[in-house]
Amino acid sequence: MRACSLQDGRVSRPWNFHPLRGERITLDLLRDDDLDALHAMQSDPEVCRYLLYEPRSREKVTEVLARDAAATRLAGKDDYIQPAIRDEHGAFVGTMYLTLASVDDRTAEIGWILAPHAQGKGYATEAARLLLELSFGELGMHRVFAELDPRNAASVAICTRLGMRHEGHFVEHMWLKGEWTDTGHYAILEREWAATRADRRGE
Ligand SMILES: CC(C)(COP(=O)(O)OP(=O)(O)OC[C@H]1O[C@@H](n2cnc3c(N)ncnc32)[C@H](O)[C@@H]1OP(=O)(O)O)[C@@H](O)C(=O)NCCC(=O)NCCS
Repeated sequence: MRACSLQDGRVSRPWNFHPLRGERITLDLLRDDDLDALHAMQSDPEVCRYLLYEPRSREKVTEVLARDAAATRLAGKDDYIQPAIRDEHGAFVGTMYLTLASVDDRTAEIGWILAPHAQGKGYATEAARLLLELSFGELGMHRVFAELDPRNAASVAICTRLGMRHEGHFVEHMWLKGEWTDTGHYAILEREWAATRADRRGE
């Protein structure tokens, strides 16, 4: 067993949620009054098309909201956060997630969902950049990955914009929603993110 942990000095301590602010959007915990907007998004068949779950009932979304709003601490494997994305006016426009896939290997997984009216504005890419900054900054991650259905062109485009490398394409490895489904695997390392950050600043 390797000895790296979130307490070992290379990686910051167990992390307790605090809002992450970007230029236009903020990542903040889900609240009870997000229920209508979260339900509208998670019950939309188009939004769910490439997600692992089918459109959700209001009861299911109520349950999920309570669970995700309470997920505020990253310390061990599989701990996660699922914050709301809020726009300049504080309105709910989507959710992000970040999971500690491995503490020993300092690896996190990220993902994104936007309400249809909020798509095409760059919010998901901005939100993903906030999670990459968190991952490689406060959390001390070495590698961050995202998995997606390769038919999901908008999601592939986010990975590409972030500078994530296409590392794998698993063919028909999952039986999902009545069909064999492929998965694309994208990843970026801490040093690669640092290089893209320097590029963006024109250094
Ligand atoms: C995947 C998903 C989040 C992508 O949404 P998106 O709006 O395309 O992504 P972004 O918010 O990063 O926006 C990027 C788009 O906004 C455009 N844009 C407009 N104004 C912009 C601005 N001021 N800044 C940046 N981009 C802007 C970009 O050009 C880009 O459009 P393009 O791809 O046509 O060039 C969205 O399709 C979705 O929620 N799908 C359903 C859930 C899902 O499948 N999630 C992923 C599971 S793996």
